[in-house]
Amino acid sequence: MWKPPERIKYTAVEDDWPDRAEAAASLLFSPLRVGPLSLAQRTWVPAMVPWRSNEAGEVTDDVLQWYERFARGKPGVIVVEATGIRDVPSGPLLRIGDDRYIPGLAKLAETVRRASGGETRLLIQLIDFLSIRRRPEPGKFLDRFLQITPAHRRALDLVDAPEASVRERLHELDPEALQAVLSAKEWEDMQYGYRERVTDTQVPAIAELPQTLPGLFARAASRAQQAGFDGVELHYAHAYTMASFLSATNTRNDGYGGSREQRVRLPLEVYESVREATGPDFAVGCRFLSDEIVSGGSDLADARYFAHQFAAAGMDFLSLSRGGKFDDAKQPKVGWAAYPYTGKSGYECMPGYISDQQGPFGRNIGPVESIRQHLRESGLATPLVVAGGIFGFKAAEEILQRGQADIIGLARQALADPDWFEKVRTGCGAEVIVCRYSNYCEGLDQKHKQVTCELWDRKDLDEPGIALSHDGKRRLLAPLWKPTL
Ligand SMILES: Cc1cc2nc3c(=O)[nH]c(=O)nc-3n(C[C@H](O)[C@H](O)[C@H](O)COP(=O)(O)O)c2cc1C
Ligand code: SF4
Repeated sequence: MWKPPERIKYTAVEDDWPDRAEAAASLLFSPLRVGPLSLAQRTWVPAMVPWRSNEAGEVTDDVLQWYERFARGKPGVIVVEATGIRDVPSGPLLRIGDDRYIPGLAKLAETVRRASGGETRLLIQLIDFLSIRRRPEPGKFLDRFLQITPAHRRALDLVDAPEASVRERLHELDPEALQAVLSAKEWEDMQYGYRERVTDTQVPAIAELPQTLPGLFARAASRAQQAGFDGVELHYAHAYTMASFLSATNTRNDGYGGSREQRVRLPLEVYESVREATGPDFAVGCRFLSDEIVSGGSDLADARYFAHQFAAAGMDFLSLSRGGKFDDAKQPKVGWAAYPYTGKSGYECMPGYISDQQGPFGRNIGPVESIRQHLRESGLATPLVVAGGIFGFKAAEEILQRGQADIIGLARQALADPDWFEKVRTGCGAEVIVCRYSNYCEGLDQKHKQVTCELWDRKDLDEPGIALSHDGKRRLLAPLWKPTL
């Protein structure tokens, strides 16, 4: 992962935990209304893909146990990982693209309800993504994937030559000469692997996304509702389809790209169609970016505009992330696909302990505060969720007291210690295992390996009955907490 050149090392320390009475008097542990839902506390476990599903995209026992472990900590909300809305093979990504997924998802909703004693509200993050291929071996790319065009022929002065001779000539070129002959897109496909974009409107399926996506999202949301979820989070963040529509890099000229008004059009149409399918008693919100952090991308001013549109349309909550784009991703090794969290924008999404002057803690607070202020000035009361390097009670409570956000998201901190919420609420904060922001977990995610935390995955491996990773070296769940009080 990209690291700020300053390379300043930070340690997350919290030595001022509240006692039970202080926690009870806090805003953090007070209830909040989120659309049709009442949250018992203003805490939120943001979506995190743990790679616990299977090639069929089903809710496996490992998926159930993963969320049960979080639910024991009784956070206000758990958002189930990014879940694919199409019924297409997507590796071991959880899916919700067909009614056959409903029984498994119902089991998941029931498991969380039981383990949290009904305290935790359960949402599921709905994702659509475009196709991405692995970086090809250069020879294979020139032989098999590259379509020979008149432009190549002209550049090589081989206008009437057989295709095989054109390919042969391309093989002989040094990289600089080859780059000059290929188009920018072809060169990128060879260096990074082919990746579809929302601007590839010459591809019929991409041209038709504004017609197909509202229905796909609506049917997925309806399944989540039938399965007993409390709501859905539409994934409009990071490197995926809906975020690409919102992006300032979206130059589609069919009324769904270009100006901010046109870029937000499909996300609003998707929302409307989801709301229509699920009704007012089901929470519907979205996750989007306070800033894309890529050159030419959307910035905070765009985010303020989008937030206003989403809130005015009636979304029940807005969850803000940052960065996480393909645009500045590192070149993958041959045989690997690009990963959108390897550049500067990826760093802003999941800041690690090696950082810059600003440090890795709470980099998204200022932007979220600015968005919130904009909404409140317009008379819109939609709750905002902030996440990014938040691990301590004091910092979380201060954010709420200052009115910078309404709900505190702890992603990696909850992964490091799923009991954070219950420990802090009951005055046992001193027992919290604080996240190091090492991004070991994110490294596992990148390789699509079962995600665990380095602070607990080698502990008590001989404990009877525990589930281990495929290589048998790591436990898959944090050890249970036995309160010392
Ligand atoms: C292993 C892992 C998987 C993640 N998967 C998702 C995801 O499915 N959807 C999403 O919106 N964000 C995802 N994220 C980003 C987190 O939700 C969160 O925004 C980010 O980690 C920053 O918050 P934190 O500092 O509290 O961890 C993931 C993060 C990690 C570490
Ligand atoms: S591996 Fe654990 S300590 Fe490291 S960032 Fe992830 S959750 Fe935090």
